[in-house]
Amino acid sequence: MDKTRTPGRSQRIAVPDSAAVQHAARLLRAGELVAFPTETVYGLGADAGNADAVRKLFAAKGRPAAHPVIVHMRDAAQVPHWARELPAGAQKLAGAFWPGPLTLILPRTSLASDIVTGGQDNVGLRVPAHPVAQMLLAAFAALGGTGIAAPSANRFGRISPTTAEHVADDFGDAVSLILDGGACDIGIESTIVAFSGGEAMLLRPGAIDRDALVRVLGHSLGSPTAAAPRASGSLPSHYAPRTPLYVVTKAELPLGIGRREERGERVAVLALTVARPAGFEGAWIAASRDAAHYAHSLYAHLRTLDASNAAAILVEQVPTATAWLAVRDRLGRAASSVSVASARRV
Ligand code: TXA
Ligand code: MG
Repeated sequence: MDKTRTPGRSQRIAVPDSAAVQHAARLLRAGELVAFPTETVYGLGADAGNADAVRKLFAAKGRPAAHPVIVHMRDAAQVPHWARELPAGAQKLAGAFWPGPLTLILPRTSLASDIVTGGQDNVGLRVPAHPVAQMLLAAFAALGGTGIAAPSANRFGRISPTTAEHVADDFGDAVSLILDGGACDIGIESTIVAFSGGEAMLLRPGAIDRDALVRVLGHSLGSPTAAAPRASGSLPSHYAPRTPLYVVTKAELPLGIGRREERGERVAVLALTVARPAGFEGAWIAASRDAAHYAHSLYAHLRTLDASNAAAILVEQVPTATAWLAVRDRLGRAASSVSVASARRV
């Protein structure tokens, strides 16, 4: 197949025309791994009905087996295959937000295998809206497939990919094919709501925010309890660059830069309101002050800063308004290997 574009790009990156999508669906049905775009981030897909293929997925990601993966479906008609119950609240959310950036955690059927669910009694389900994901799911369904298990297409614990090149950078030859849908619109992972113990719980904030969920549900959501389904995306340290990352206030940013430069250290900065000081020599990115635009580019920016050979990445704190909740959550996880006290001493 000769679907590659620019020389130097991975041979595995394909323009997602109908031949490439058909080929991807056949690879999936044959037990191979295929990366594809969604409106949130790129997913690394395997046939969710093929336990060996899902095992291969865990091996490629380096992900511990106890972490469940989301099953991507063409539409809500496939819910009964995977979930034995669709509580009224979940039905409302699916009606309002599917296809879209929402994952529902529901009681599983026996067809959702232990490798998909991490041995839990729940399964994560999502109907993505991205046209390439939809084309792939339709071609996959035409070959008898019922769902594509897909975590974000990054190595475990690392930053999620928002372009086909990010996927190729992380996986090289471990993935048979990467469908290139350009940069993901939303740029951060889906909102996850669990309906496992009767109550709706927000497990991971995303582009669909708590207020939007509450409006559709007609009542508030619980926060994760100890009994909540495990979500690796809710581990304190996740989505992290290799370079230590510190979230700092507007006032701390110039001080942190100065102190590190005095020690001869290179600094990389993701700024929001602070202007680049004259003579600053490291990588400096001025991020958007709009929360959705900020989220769209966040992971690409973190990858760029991570690649700049700095001793530290300093990120200017974002506002506390609800619209920034998901971004604050991801920044907190990217920085969480660092204590609050040392973050203050940057
Ligand atoms: O936007 C997204 O959700 C992307 C795209 C590709 O769909 N996927 C994604 O997958 O972010 P992943 O595996 O990187 O994160 C999914 C999160 C994990 O934290 C996982 O633990 C949780 O969803 N999850 C999946 N199934 C679950 C289940 N049955 N119970 C509890 N948590 C679950
Ligand atoms: Mg992930």
